[in-house]
Amino acid sequence: MKIFLDTANIDHIREVAAWGLLDGVTTNPSLVAREGGDFIEMIHTICEIVEGDVSAEVIAQDTAGMVREGRLLARISEHVVVKIPLTEAGLAACNVLSTEGIKVNVTLAFQPVQALLAAKVGATYISPFVGRVDDISWNGSELISQIVAIYDNDPDIHTQVLAASIRHPLHIVEAALAGAHVATIPYGVLKRSVGHPLTDSGNTRFLADWAKVPDTDIVAQVERWLARDR
Ligand code: E4P
Repeated sequence: MKIFLDTANIDHIREVAAWGLLDGVTTNPSLVAREGGDFIEMIHTICEIVEGDVSAEVIAQDTAGMVREGRLLARISEHVVVKIPLTEAGLAACNVLSTEGIKVNVTLAFQPVQALLAAKVGATYISPFVGRVDDISWNGSELISQIVAIYDNDPDIHTQVLAASIRHPLHIVEAALAGAHVATIPYGVLKRSVGHPLTDSGNTRFLADWAKVPDTDIVAQVERWLARDR
């Protein structure tokens, strides 16, 4: 499963990219508004850092407007994926853009049949909103499972399931177990996914024990060993 970061924060993207595991980024109008600044420059900068798929969302609500904005957004970088809401106009716009070879992330999916329709119009990604589904007392992970099963049943579907609205580390695990191709993860959730109290306490104990060995300098030991007469 690919890991995307769900943010428009450049510092956070740089930090996680340096870990070497970042496959892409998703943004949405709310995330962009939270950061402020120039939207187009922001997307361009993110594309230069990540060199993976970067979703940038259209604002127009009619097909012609979405297609126009989508074509322009796609010119910012080859990494841009045009993000389009799952509406009737959005499906038609996805059909046009995907036929032109422009990647589309169809967003705001809340039921499996919506995902089937997005796939039929050539979406590169479908974004089911796991957390927001949980919020209304349904099961976001079950939604992912059903979409994956539907797609697996049709050899003509190549749309990737992008688990969105991830709220906690367990959502990531459930998305991976359900067969999602991608999880887009908020920075805070990803940071919480790295740490564990037993990792920290185990590491502390190892360091305390290592302090008891006669020579604690590994670099010096290895350099001496490499330079020894054979
Ligand atoms: C990502 O593409 C979505 O826009 C995002 O994951 C939504 O997350 P939220 O439900 O926490 O706003």
